[in-house]
Amino acid sequence: MNNSSILKVTNLTKKIGAKKIVDNVSFDVRKGEIFGLLGPNGAGKTTIIRMIVGLINRTGGHVSINGFDLDTNFNEALNEIGAIVENPEFYGYLSGYKNLIHYKRMSRKEISEEKLRETIAVVKLDAAIKQKVKTYSLGMRQRLGVAQAILHSPSLLILDEPTNGLDPSGIREFRDHLRMLTEKGVTVLVSSHLLAEMQLMCDRFAIIEKGKLIYIESMAETTNMEAASKRKVTFTVHNSEAAMQIIQPFIVEGMEKLNEQQFTISLDYQSIAEINKQLVQADISVFEIASVKKTLEDRFLEITNSAKEGTDK
Ligand SMILES: Nc1ncnc2c1ncn2[C@@H]1O[C@H](COP(=O)(O)OP(=O)(O)OP(=O)(O)O)[C@@H](O)[C@H]1O
Ligand SMILES: [Mg+2]
Repeated sequence: MNNSSILKVTNLTKKIGAKKIVDNVSFDVRKGEIFGLLGPNGAGKTTIIRMIVGLINRTGGHVSINGFDLDTNFNEALNEIGAIVENPEFYGYLSGYKNLIHYKRMSRKEISEEKLRETIAVVKLDAAIKQKVKTYSLGMRQRLGVAQAILHSPSLLILDEPTNGLDPSGIREFRDHLRMLTEKGVTVLVSSHLLAEMQLMCDRFAIIEKGKLIYIESMAETTNMEAASKRKVTFTVHNSEAAMQIIQPFIVEGMEKLNEQQFTISLDYQSIAEINKQLVQADISVFEIASVKKTLEDRFLEITNSAKEGTDK
């Protein structure tokens, strides 16, 4: 992944009446990543997306997509986007194929027959594409929506709550699907209020609360997997007491016995191997060394609580 940004949002603001429903929001989405907009119902996610895709006016701020500014190059900027903002509307009595043909005819960009077939294959609808859309499952409709959104080869795919209504296996399929699209060079902006789902889906995320962006970080930081940072590690050994005695001299902080076979330590990446070596040399059997991962939910609560404490003062 390189660091050039495909979407640049600066000081985005939306006022309705006296109320700021989006308040000075700025973020970048980098080429090839899946970026999540995360926040509770009513936070402003859909409003942000609607402004990015030009469906509603901005009160303030700038949006640029693959270098095209929405103010000065509206059409070029929009050509760079494929989006599913509300549930995609299809003609149920027509086949998936006819729906896509209809859409292809309305597109501002020239779309070849070959591109159409390729897109159908990408969303894995080859087998069902001649069936009427009213016979499609929700997951199939969703994939047809994605096909429609990526038909004109946009550099940015925007999805507002794409997994609403999908069952767990449908969600998983959809996730794998998005990952595959990014491998083909598409960048994705996705919104959701479901933390666990976003944790599995996104590379980075922003937390939106009451119209404000309160945090951005990468999922690797969140789940404690960055190589440079200290992480909490659980060792499983045949005798935790004996093991802890052996490594006592090497450890300065945070060693804690969990039970007869497990203990945790906070340490950096490099030290994990060193500790393991000490244990093995002392004839301690090591069965497992595992990083204690924080969930996005843990992190979300930390972030939103500290934001609240900040505003109380
Ligand atoms: N046209 C409008 N007029 C007045 N208020 C609006 C309008 N559109 C949105 N809002 C308000 O702005 C806030 C943000 O709405 P938005 O739909 O962007 O939230 P969201 O984060 O997408 O929520 P959800 O998770 O429920 O989809 C809400 O309080 C909503 O009631
Ligand atoms: Mg919404």
